[in-house]
Amino acid sequence: MNDIVHIPVLADEIISMLKGYEKIVVDATCGNGGHSYIFATQLADNIQRLFCFDKDTETLKIAQNRLNKFSFVEFVPESYTAIKRVLENANLRATFVLFDLGLSMWQIKKSNRGFTFHENEPLDMRYDIREGEPLSHFLKKMLPEEIENILKTYGEVKKASKIAVSIVRERKRTEFKTTLELVNLLRHLGLPTSEIQKVFMAFRIYVNRELHTLVEGIKSAIEATQKGGRIAFITYHSIEDRIVKKISKIEGMKKVEPYPIFPTQKEIKQNRAARSAKLRVFEKGVDDVKETNYTIIDSMVSSFPAPSAR
Ligand SMILES: C[S@@+](CC[C@H](N)C(=O)[O-])C[C@H]1O[C@@H](n2cnc3c(N)ncnc32)[C@H](O)[C@@H]1O
Repeated sequence: MNDIVHIPVLADEIISMLKGYEKIVVDATCGNGGHSYIFATQLADNIQRLFCFDKDTETLKIAQNRLNKFSFVEFVPESYTAIKRVLENANLRATFVLFDLGLSMWQIKKSNRGFTFHENEPLDMRYDIREGEPLSHFLKKMLPEEIENILKTYGEVKKASKIAVSIVRERKRTEFKTTLELVNLLRHLGLPTSEIQKVFMAFRIYVNRELHTLVEGIKSAIEATQKGGRIAFITYHSIEDRIVKKISKIEGMKKVEPYPIFPTQKEIKQNRAARSAKLRVFEKGVDDVKETNYTIIDSMVSSFPAPSAR
């Protein structure tokens, strides 16, 4: 239990959106199971199935230890892009899906995968180490223009060009295998902590294809949800929020009021990680959404940098 360091965000607000929709629940980003644990304990009488997805298998093991005692919980160590397939195989359609985007406090503090610049760790940044490549590999081979584009697009980093050129120049001498090697270079260029944080966030979004995957996940969730079901998103980053907002423009999907929902000052005081959170909930008003309607979200990410799909 000492492993659990993540406090679930907007939990009361999610519960009130979930009531009446709790038959077939999907936690698309289960993490250590913070939200799912609350669902399972508070709504146990009404939940028939609770699917817990997370592509970070290590993180999901912690959730498993907490939630194993609930017979209605099923763990899926896969990306949320697989929601549609997994529910189809179970012959079910969801009544509620929750996406709590980004990364967990456990991943920052305990995963040793380079999500934090406060510790010296391997420069990996993958949620799922079974696929893709660690950041250190990309930094060895990317062109300066590619690095600059990533830093500008995902982090709005001020010295993007200078950082990109410096990484490429410095890699003759430095392997960039650890967070410290990257942080030393960024400090040498005079970046304040707030900008270093943005550099780390931008690289993390790139390595995990986060926004492209989000778009695929949204489609998968919409298709796996039954008519009248709900899909909820907690976003922490302006670009992911812009993508999520577009869901209301998809034919058959409508906003659920209040929209959006922000954490209270009390919650922010107790949990700083909640400070940039926004909750947006949508209801599916049709049986099936036509494939052509997804261009509205596809076009949001089509020009964004990403490693090739895997
Ligand atoms: C903010 S945390 C979720 C915390 C959780 N709601 C809780 O309260 O404990 C986000 C989680 O999403 C996971 N994640 C990121 N991309 C994913 C994807 N494509 N599919 C499934 N999980 C993903 C991360 O590994 C992380 O555990």
